[in-house]
Amino acid sequence: MSTEVLIRKLDPTDLPGVAVVHMAAFPESALTMLGAEAVRRYYEWQLSGPHDSDSLGAFLGTEVVGFCVGGIFRGALSGYLRKNRMFLAWRVLTHPWLITNPIFRDRLNFVISIWKPSAKSPASIPPVHPKAIKSYGILSIGVHPKCQGLGIGKLLMRTSEEVARRREFSAMDLSVHTDNQQAIKFYESLNWEKDFSDGVWSGGMKKSLKL
Ligand SMILES: CC(C)(COP(=O)(O)OP(=O)(O)OC[C@H]1O[C@@H](n2cnc3c(N)ncnc32)[C@H](O)[C@@H]1OP(=O)(O)O)[C@@H](O)C(=O)NCCC(=O)NCCS
Repeated sequence: MSTEVLIRKLDPTDLPGVAVVHMAAFPESALTMLGAEAVRRYYEWQLSGPHDSDSLGAFLGTEVVGFCVGGIFRGALSGYLRKNRMFLAWRVLTHPWLITNPIFRDRLNFVISIWKPSAKSPASIPPVHPKAIKSYGILSIGVHPKCQGLGIGKLLMRTSEEVARRREFSAMDLSVHTDNQQAIKFYESLNWEKDFSDGVWSGGMKKSLKL
């Protein structure tokens, strides 16, 4: 299968396809509940915001079947919310049932808890010198359910790892829901380890690139 799959950098025209994959791979996420355009805008922000990121897509022919967004992010969520606040407010107002959904409400409460309207916009935060950051973050990885279990996730992750090594990062990190057994098994199969540095495991995983 992997010989038919092409991995390449995503460009903005790929984002509607990325949104389709995201919505199928994360059917219960708050972002998915907000609809395809909200998802497309989320990934557009990861491509165009003040980050230092590498966004990869997996393609079967011209169809996006997976994606992996990695790098150093500056306001991945807060910048998205700020840039799209009118659009997102309109989505919620025109879909009031979202507020009664417990998953969406939980996520909204989280966003409200981190939201600081007076905080500087990500674009105004001075860039961190790349040498000061040693760990390359994986913000999001997803494979369309119809193509899962075929090695595409592994191919995406291996390519991201090559990028991180080439860029001389010494480690990688990501965050996963502690009950997402499928993803945890996937990461462990690629030699990622749970990060217990805070004493308890709250979903952080890391991989050393020193070997
Ligand atoms: C997690 C995900 C990206 C993996 O992509 P994938 O293409 O299905 O994974 P692969 O086929 O490349 O699997 C690679 C290895 O992971 C392990 N693995 C993958 N899915 C697994 C599962 N359901 N159970 C156990 N192990 C699994 C296997 O060891 C596999 O290696 P093998 O094929 O040699 O046995 C994909 O399943 C997905 O999109 N899930 C939903 C979205 C998600 O949870 N993303 C992660 C959020 S943090």
